[in-house]
Amino acid sequence: GKAPRVSYVCSNCGDGFSQWWGTCRGCQAVGTLTKFFPGAADCADADAEGSHHAGRSWIRQKSKEMVPKKLREVTKGFDQAGWRIPLPGTFGNEISRVLGGGVVPGSLVLVGGDPGVGKSTLMLQLASIVSEGSEDHGSAPVVYVSGEESIEQIANRADRMSIRSKDLYLYSSTDIEDILDKIQSLSPKALVVDSIQTVYLSAFAGSAGNQVQVRECTSALLSFAKMTNIPVFLIGHVTKTGDIAGPRVLEHIVDVVLYMEGERCLSHRLLRSVKNRFGSTDELGVFEMSEHGLQAVLNPSEMFLTEHDSDSEILAGLAVAVVLDGSRTFAIEVQALSVPGSPGQGKVVGTRSKRVEMIISVLMKQAGLKLHDNVIYLNVVSGFELTETAGDLAIAASICSSFLEFPIPNDIAFIGEIGLGGELRTVPRMDKRVMAIAKLGYRKCIVPKTSEKLLKPLDLDIQILPCNNLKEFINTVF
Ligand code: TYD
Ligand code: MG
Repeated sequence: GKAPRVSYVCSNCGDGFSQWWGTCRGCQAVGTLTKFFPGAADCADADAEGSHHAGRSWIRQKSKEMVPKKLREVTKGFDQAGWRIPLPGTFGNEISRVLGGGVVPGSLVLVGGDPGVGKSTLMLQLASIVSEGSEDHGSAPVVYVSGEESIEQIANRADRMSIRSKDLYLYSSTDIEDILDKIQSLSPKALVVDSIQTVYLSAFAGSAGNQVQVRECTSALLSFAKMTNIPVFLIGHVTKTGDIAGPRVLEHIVDVVLYMEGERCLSHRLLRSVKNRFGSTDELGVFEMSEHGLQAVLNPSEMFLTEHDSDSEILAGLAVAVVLDGSRTFAIEVQALSVPGSPGQGKVVGTRSKRVEMIISVLMKQAGLKLHDNVIYLNVVSGFELTETAGDLAIAASICSSFLEFPIPNDIAFIGEIGLGGELRTVPRMDKRVMAIAKLGYRKCIVPKTSEKLLKPLDLDIQILPCNNLKEFINTVF
């Protein structure tokens, strides 16, 4: 009907405006507004207002039937224990814990990670176990939609993974409206969409993967999940340093953000919850990629034992630091080599050499370590750049260990900043770091004495060894 009105859309955050601005009023980016003909989008609005295409109503929901409800009416017949969809088996338990105890009906879960890390594999397995159900919940349809692979390719993968769920449906499409129309009649127990970068809404400008499409498709899936109570798992590709699917806005729309990463050893995959409206974000799932898909790693401490060949001697000069990267926790290994020679010839890889020089000076002055005639080489293993002062203690520990030729048992981790007086200082998110390291299978953690009070109330499966200063620390460990 009416002529399309020209407006402007920000290519960064996807916000739309009726006039052009030099600086986007949504995200403050400069020069990102471009001309945009919303024509089709207006149609989507009209649909929701109750004209034709009732089936598309989740795209822009303005339902007049919806009214506020009394809490008591909502909770009536509300079964807390049976609210979440359980994920049985060891694999299911591992994901379940990361999700906060099962799948919440009507939730939109974003599963991010680098290309090739195993997101499609993880979600196909999840789709299979949700579909198979448990003893209390029988088998039910679950739809796995891929915009990246044909259904034959997915079936081939499922076959290699020995997935035989009789109610698992596969569908290959990139059109969100088509996907939601087709699956609604199946009223599945869950929906997987692989991936956000490949789907589009014809009502919006641009090709799949652009920021407006990413935002609008995610919003449409959210409305769909909320209206139908069908949980939706949305896969998103991210580069190592980038945020999920580029725009931060995506993380705000969804209920849960899971992040899958492969680290340290090639076959291990970690699943973290970065945001969770229904649970804690401190849980970590540990999986191993095999030729038959992902398997839960029941005893994560083995991850480290295999790395240091459990039969061979533990080397002196190795210490484990616990660092945060954004909202993610990493256990990383610091390796030091102290040999006779003239100081200043040493080399530092993977962390700031000025910081290492300071730590060496403090070790000499405040802990009495006779490092004067030694060259120190320091390497942060795995190519990780250690920038946090939380790693100071592990750096000091690795240097002490090499200098004293005393290997550190491989079940100890170190967290803490070192001050010029040799005192140990607490660092942000001590609780999160200690929880992550306990989950990874470490048995002991050296922390600054000042953190003891914070950590004591936590029910941790790890021994906390608080120290005031470097001298105390050396007496505790060596
Ligand atoms: P995939 O799930 O396709 O990753 P993503 O969706 O995150 O891009 O997994 C990719 C890698 O996983 C691929 O290199 C092959 C490997 N893989 C296995 O080792 N075993 C398996 O059973 C499967 C299905 C994949
Ligand atoms: Mg994939």
